[in-house]
Amino acid sequence: MTQDVRTPNALGLIHHFEPGATEARPLLLLHGTGGNEHDLLPLGRIVAPGAALLSPRGAVSENGMPRFFRRLAEGVFDEADLRRRTADLAAFVAAARARFGLAAPLALGFSNGANIAAALLMLHPEVLAGAVLIRPMVPLAEPPAANLAGKPVLMLSGAMDPIVPAENAGRLARQLTAAGAAVEHRILPVGHGLSQADVSLAADWVRGLARPGAA
Ligand code: MLT
Repeated sequence: MTQDVRTPNALGLIHHFEPGATEARPLLLLHGTGGNEHDLLPLGRIVAPGAALLSPRGAVSENGMPRFFRRLAEGVFDEADLRRRTADLAAFVAAARARFGLAAPLALGFSNGANIAAALLMLHPEVLAGAVLIRPMVPLAEPPAANLAGKPVLMLSGAMDPIVPAENAGRLARQLTAAGAAVEHRILPVGHGLSQADVSLAADWVRGLARPGAA
């Protein structure tokens, strides 16, 4: 059974929810600019077969394109809006966990979705069990001192990405590592778009993680 919620309801964001097996860690799917709550469902089903999928739609519209937070220019973020939207996303995840009986999810975010997932790790570290960040960049110029002790994070960057400079992705990896996260940063010979290598690397990495409730 799947469920589409087209209007922001008690959970606060338009979303799609697909229930899953309790032994599989739920995924929080976070789409890229111009995407929606349906975009990453096929990816989520491949990366974590049988897992519950919680997929919100970004509440910001940039010329009709949904995003998770405002930007002033490409790669230049409105950090006040980012902080507010990240708090809204944290509240959405908490409400969805209570309503659907979910363990803390792993985020699987692409581009703008990866950037808010990185902000969620830094601003509300308790919300996520870990994250797969595809083509992320540094979301906050001065991140707070978060405690991400032991949280697994897979970062997948593109060596030919015209949007995310290598230095920026490397800085994010260092920030997350400094906060205690167990970061694996892979740089693929691709651009900003999602590639087949992203799908297989993410699936292998998620398969290797501990299940919810495991020691
Ligand atoms: C962002 O705005 O989050 C990044 O520039 C990625 C994008 O959405 O293009």
